[in-house]
Amino acid sequence: MLDLEKLYSESAKIMKASVIRELLKLTRVPGIISFAGGLPAPETFPTEKIKEITSTVIDREGPLMMQYGPTEGSPGLKEELIKYIKNDVTDYDFKQENFLITTASQQALDLLGKAFINPGDTIVVGLPSYLGALQAFNAYRTRFIGIPVDNDGMVPEILEKNLGELKAAGKPLPKFIYTIPDFQNPAGITYTYERRKAILEIAYKYDIPVIEDSPYRELRYTGEKVESMLSMDKKGYVIAMFTFSKTMIPGFRLGWVVAKNPEIIQKLVIIKQGVDLCTPPFTQAIATEFLKRGYLETQVKANVAFYKQKQRAMLNCLDQYMPKLEGLSWTKPEGGMFLWLTLPKGMNADEMLYQAVEEKVAYVIGSAFFCNGEGKNTMRINFSYPTLENIDVGIKKLARVISEFAEKNKEKAAH
Ligand SMILES: Cc1ncc(COP(=O)(O)O)c(C=O)c1O
Repeated sequence: MLDLEKLYSESAKIMKASVIRELLKLTRVPGIISFAGGLPAPETFPTEKIKEITSTVIDREGPLMMQYGPTEGSPGLKEELIKYIKNDVTDYDFKQENFLITTASQQALDLLGKAFINPGDTIVVGLPSYLGALQAFNAYRTRFIGIPVDNDGMVPEILEKNLGELKAAGKPLPKFIYTIPDFQNPAGITYTYERRKAILEIAYKYDIPVIEDSPYRELRYTGEKVESMLSMDKKGYVIAMFTFSKTMIPGFRLGWVVAKNPEIIQKLVIIKQGVDLCTPPFTQAIATEFLKRGYLETQVKANVAFYKQKQRAMLNCLDQYMPKLEGLSWTKPEGGMFLWLTLPKGMNADEMLYQAVEEKVAYVIGSAFFCNGEGKNTMRINFSYPTLENIDVGIKKLARVISEFAEKNKEKAAH
């Protein structure tokens, strides 16, 4: 019999089924209202348009889109993205060499891990940060430096203090700073302009690249757009990542990396060759036509209107149903797909999940997003996928679970 444990690489060995995944399994019971996922609503998928475009592009360029394509991505799609990015970054003349098409942003995270992390290297992530990024980077046996994220973004003073101490001790500096500045997954917060600037200044001072992971940027429901770090960066330190997953179709698995420094892109291209040769030219051809016809702008507008309504509904339900407990609060994000709920100190959202599942409502435990295991009294709740009716019923249930759990906690404390 194969002794697989002996055969597996060190990296594979550390990729064990996590407690979090086990907890998520719990939430997949029939009849449950789940705020745990992070899925776009299927009602937003542009099915009819995709049907028509697919048939048109197959007639026009079938053999080409069914063949292998360049690792860098289709030049046609990049051409459209160069125009599209002008909506966001107006003062820079991007070229094809600044773009890499990826098999969605999850692949970009993996490529960046491969490009920068040696076992034992450190990287900076937010407390909290996107779980999928922590998993992708963890595969390269990195050590995380967690920097708190408050309502305005990653706290620059703490970042600077950490880096200063490392430098003073002659220790190696982190390989990169990973950020999600717009409507962060999980907390929903948006970095202010000042925070973005401060983090960039620190990156320049210590010579560390900044990853700007930006899947939600276009999904803004209130407030003013803040300049992207890619746009603010004048020195080529920012590596930005985007995706069609939240604005078009997650099943296309299409994303793109943009860097003002083309050397970074060249390195990622070489790495990607060994990963999947190329992102499917088939979906790239369809997406190119979608952009060419200006459908993406229309689609983004429709998604914003749709999700804005759901977010407002969830915030109203929270106001209406949540018990008045000291320390119970939630974020009011200006966009994205998630709210972040903080329970009173001492209440454990991991433990409460069992009770919530019994009541047929689910969330993701907040501690899953903390590289240091903190955040036990927090949770992430998603509003993009559940129906308006389920938002109402589910938040009512969650409010009841929180009330009862708080009551039990009080009793426990009294004994
Ligand atoms: C911050 C962040 N980055 C990356 C991803 C991965 O998205 P995809 O691979 O679908 O582009 C997600 C998905 O939820 C995310 O929230």
